[in-house]
Amino acid sequence: MNTAVQDSGTKDNDWKVTMNPDEVYRNPMSIAWTFKYVMPGDKVEDLYKRAKQNQWDSDEYLPWDTEVDPSKPLLTTGSSMYHRMPFFQKLSQTQREAFTAHSTAQLMSQFLHGEQGAVMTAACVTHSVPDINAKLYAATQTMDEARHVEVFAKYCEKVAIVYPMAKGLKGVIDATLKSDRFEKVMIGMNMIVESMALGSFNNVYRTTQCELLKKLMFGVMRDESRHVTFGHTYLGPLFAKMHPDDLEDCAEFAFQAVSMMWRRPGAATTTDSVDKGFLEVLENSNIDPADFFKGMKEAAEQGITQELPPGQIHSLNDLMMPALARVGLFTPTIRKKYDEAGITIFEDQRVLEAMEGGNPVA
Ligand SMILES: [Fe+2]
Ligand SMILES: [Fe+2]
Repeated sequence: MNTAVQDSGTKDNDWKVTMNPDEVYRNPMSIAWTFKYVMPGDKVEDLYKRAKQNQWDSDEYLPWDTEVDPSKPLLTTGSSMYHRMPFFQKLSQTQREAFTAHSTAQLMSQFLHGEQGAVMTAACVTHSVPDINAKLYAATQTMDEARHVEVFAKYCEKVAIVYPMAKGLKGVIDATLKSDRFEKVMIGMNMIVESMALGSFNNVYRTTQCELLKKLMFGVMRDESRHVTFGHTYLGPLFAKMHPDDLEDCAEFAFQAVSMMWRRPGAATTTDSVDKGFLEVLENSNIDPADFFKGMKEAAEQGITQELPPGQIHSLNDLMMPALARVGLFTPTIRKKYDEAGITIFEDQRVLEAMEGGNPVA
């Protein structure tokens, strides 16, 4: 273990990701054999079949020769709150272009790091889940995530910068990998992180002007749609039969993970409350963070908010919360905790239903 590497997986004071094995920790998971090989003909088996049919090879599927100019916007900027802030309009064109390029690179980097986390959680479910259908399905997901790491790593190479993994995302994936049962691994990854990812991938897919990124996003999004479905399809019936104490334990784990991902509206208006990577984005764009956050506060006071244009998904409200509701993870005890934390529970299933099963159509 490289002791010079901090918990974030990056060198201290260095935004570039190291290429060394950065962290080692143990998880307390049990490994489960099963000798019952008969597949049950259920929804999980159906997902496994679709996963086999829908594998894709990025070498053949994606137009890798597409030129990517990181200085040009890869995503439509009109919908971004930053571009509507009066402060932002006062910046020079060079600063605005640099901010657009670096903030996009920071987003792509989160996708890349998150996918590596997903390779490990899917492998973890493969060895710890006791049913043969889920074991085989999780193995296909492990391969899906390997392909996702490959394509995001290649795309980040074209963008030419890799930003560090955001603390919140790293925290949730680490808590998931360190948990003691496969149900929690599936809550943390398939229900929480992958709901966030599926919504973000959909939004990038709908707003990107880069032909390569659009096709890449579509392929990844279709796989993620299966992964999210696996979470609630497999866990729902298990939770329905689970001892109430164990269910409460899983509900508490979900609450803690949601709390790590949730941001109080308007909270990111100081240098202390945003991720270090975002400060690097500002620095690389030659924008003073104090001016930037003052500008954000002023914009919020003028009612300029991060509205989602039509076709875009709010990952937390439209996917993550409805998935947790569907499997019964909002117990009466845990509802009080969400209430006290000021986190609203959304239970409307419509967007989740449209996005699941391997054919995302929302
Ligand atoms: Fe993935
Ligand atoms: Fe995934």
